[in-house]
Amino acid sequence: MKTIVYYYSHKSSNRYLAHKIATDLQCTIEEIKPRINRHLLMLMGVNAGNTKLANDVEQYDRVILCGPIWMGRLIVPLRNFINQNKDKVKNIVFVTCCGSSFDRKDEKFGHNKVFNEVKRILGNKVIHCEAFPITLVLPDELKNAPDAFMKTHLNDDNFKGEIVGIYNRFLAKVAF
Ligand SMILES: Cc1cc2nc3c(=O)[nH]c(=O)nc-3n(C[C@H](O)[C@H](O)[C@H](O)COP(=O)(O)O)c2cc1C
Repeated sequence: MKTIVYYYSHKSSNRYLAHKIATDLQCTIEEIKPRINRHLLMLMGVNAGNTKLANDVEQYDRVILCGPIWMGRLIVPLRNFINQNKDKVKNIVFVTCCGSSFDRKDEKFGHNKVFNEVKRILGNKVIHCEAFPITLVLPDELKNAPDAFMKTHLNDDNFKGEIVGIYNRFLAKVAF
């Protein structure tokens, strides 16, 4: 299956995750670039669209879309990507390194809300959604600290333990 990873990342965790997936699948990777890449403005709903992609979605059997969640929403650059390419995408896997843990996935700021939104827009083109909560790499004493998840970013030093098992199971699902 010809696969491409598209990603957006503000603080680097989703960049790290996207590059890891693309390396392991040995596939093309491209960064999604909003024309106005200002975190606060995007949170306020300011949206000038994304810049043109270098790789045409239509050339791929499967898209892996990777990016963060803010305020329980499908963020502007990812929403733009989906809206612009929903007719061209054949199959899509949605992946996020987010702040919400598995046991909070259905809450107001939980990742399931965003998964459901992606499925609502793209229907049965969505073949899988996977969350990698940053809490997985926090030491036990910081898992419930209010701001620890904001200050922690995925990297080679902390990508170990529980998250590796989840990542390897994810890879087994998409490695075809
Ligand atoms: C302003 C802001 C709002 C956030 N809101 C949520 C949220 O509603 N749900 C969630 O799961 N994570 C939330 N997060 C956490 C991010 O999804 C998480 O830090 C992510 O790993 C950042 O990805 P990046 O490093 O690729 O930018 C929020 C982060 C920021 C900065």
